[in-house]
Amino acid sequence: MKLNIALLAGDGIGPEVTAQAVKVVDAIAEKYNHEITWQPALTGAAAIDAVGEPYPDSTHEVCANADAVLFGAIGHPRFDNDPSAKVRPEQGLLKMRQKLGLFANVRPTFTFPSLIDKSPLKRERIEGTDLIILRELTGGIYFGERGRKDGDNTAYDTMTYERHEIQRLAEKGFKMAMKRSKKLCCVDKANVLESSRLWRETVQAMEKDYPEVEVSYEFVDAVAMRLVQWPSAYDVMITANLFGDILTDEASVISGSMGLMPSSSVGSKVSLYEPIHGSYPQAAGKDIANPLATVLSAAMLFEDMDLSDEAKAIRDVVNKSLAEGIVTEDLSEGGKAYKTSEVGNWLAANL
Ligand code: IPM
Ligand code: MN
Repeated sequence: MKLNIALLAGDGIGPEVTAQAVKVVDAIAEKYNHEITWQPALTGAAAIDAVGEPYPDSTHEVCANADAVLFGAIGHPRFDNDPSAKVRPEQGLLKMRQKLGLFANVRPTFTFPSLIDKSPLKRERIEGTDLIILRELTGGIYFGERGRKDGDNTAYDTMTYERHEIQRLAEKGFKMAMKRSKKLCCVDKANVLESSRLWRETVQAMEKDYPEVEVSYEFVDAVAMRLVQWPSAYDVMITANLFGDILTDEASVISGSMGLMPSSSVGSKVSLYEPIHGSYPQAAGKDIANPLATVLSAAMLFEDMDLSDEAKAIRDVVNKSLAEGIVTEDLSEGGKAYKTSEVGNWLAANL
């Protein structure tokens, strides 16, 4: 297969972790006879520095015409500490999601047998955890009306949802549930928020189309609690942008390191693959960040291209590296800590 992949390395550790995924994808391409063309493009603080905006049109062109986008991370501390900054790297990510129509963010949480005891949670609580949070990604409070009123003293953001936005996400959730354990949990705050009541009403109305799926409705605050008590009780979850942002960070550490969980953002056309973790600026340029979340994101890419053998080969070699202790310092715990680039080389060589 010929694949044209936009490569948006972004900020912080983004360039280092994507470089390892590129090695792995190139090794897969050689083994399975695919022809991959990488198309690097600027995004984030790196793009602000170069051209003054975090998601330039030239980058959008590259992404919109690609078969898939591999993304690293976005963000830089110099913007976080400056509330008056007019242009922020994060705006690039939001703009990209919106312009590419990436309305569904698929964020799995699963455990690795060899890492169970690295989790902040007790083994018996996390064994068997294999869940997917489907986060709505182009609506809600991250895209609602925003601004300040009453001079400088009041700020507001608006959480708006339209029925069709909820429907298209929920449809993905139901279909995913049908392929898995047929359990779907709608996470909302319907005891307080009007937009959450629209979520509940919309999902309830869709239940009749998927009679085999058992749907539950839970409040987001309770889910935040239960996710650390019994994560294995969940399977497919659907939720609004803000709730999903928070819950997926919480869920991502269950596996033992935030550097492990991949994600995809899908829309009607091109999809984007990125690690759940952020730009980790303290580690940038040190060759110490864990590249596995990005490598596993590439596995999701192959899976979505219906190249399951390739996806499985990546997951298998990742498992092998973990079992053999070829890990970066976040997982090495007294043992040898490998460099980011060494882990990438090992994975590519052992495929
Ligand atoms: C994420 C990130 C982004 C988000 C930021 C960087 C805009 O935290 O992908 O979860 O909040 O969506
Ligand atoms: Mn986030």
